[in-house]
Amino acid sequence: MTSYRNRMLSGMSTSLDRQRRFLGTLVNEPLSVGALAPSSRRLADHMAVDIVPGSRVIELGAGTGSLTRAILDAGVEPSDLLVIEQNEAFSEMLRKRFPGIGVITGNALGLNRHAGALPGPADFVVSGLPLLLFTPGRKLRLLYQVFSVLSEEGAFHQFTYGGRCPVERAVLRRLGLEATLLRFTPMNLPPAFVYRLQRCR
Ligand SMILES: C[S@@+](CC[C@H](N)C(=O)[O-])C[C@H]1O[C@@H](n2cnc3c(N)ncnc32)[C@H](O)[C@@H]1O
Repeated sequence: MTSYRNRMLSGMSTSLDRQRRFLGTLVNEPLSVGALAPSSRRLADHMAVDIVPGSRVIELGAGTGSLTRAILDAGVEPSDLLVIEQNEAFSEMLRKRFPGIGVITGNALGLNRHAGALPGPADFVVSGLPLLLFTPGRKLRLLYQVFSVLSEEGAFHQFTYGGRCPVERAVLRRLGLEATLLRFTPMNLPPAFVYRLQRCR
């Protein structure tokens, strides 16, 4: 009983530590974090929709690991998950929290250089990047790379707090992509929308 209680308490303090670390980074680097709090578990599950055991996944902007947890809980092997996070303290936290996954400390716009760390083309790229703060040109560069590392049927999942797709129509058209609203997640701070981008069929 005591050890169960201790485990619960240590789990709670870990989660509190993550919240604290997230808030500290938000205060110091608001434009790179772009969120008030880590994603809720419900949003994380919505971002992991259709990810199954055997999927190869790249996660961009993993923060303290809310989406990472849901991706692994969907049955993805740690060796099939590669995470790119630019903040060093978050990357270190991710390495400790999820042994066996690939963690690159770097810019998601350098994705092409790192994707070879996976054993094959990715099935999903899951992004927690604050895309609303990216210029259209930066989104174009990012998505060009994303779709060069995804398999033919692969999908890009992105959440946003705005009620519309955070990627402009012109950018989608240029890359031959279509966007679908997958989920609305009211149980998140703030409520979020999950979009899926895929090649037009
Ligand atoms: C909105 S937070 C999302 C964190 C986490 N995925 C979640 O859902 O709780 C955005 C994260 O993206 C990271 N980030 C922002 N721009 C980035 C970039 N260009 N390359 C890699 N990571 C980036 C930030 O450091 C931060 O951890």
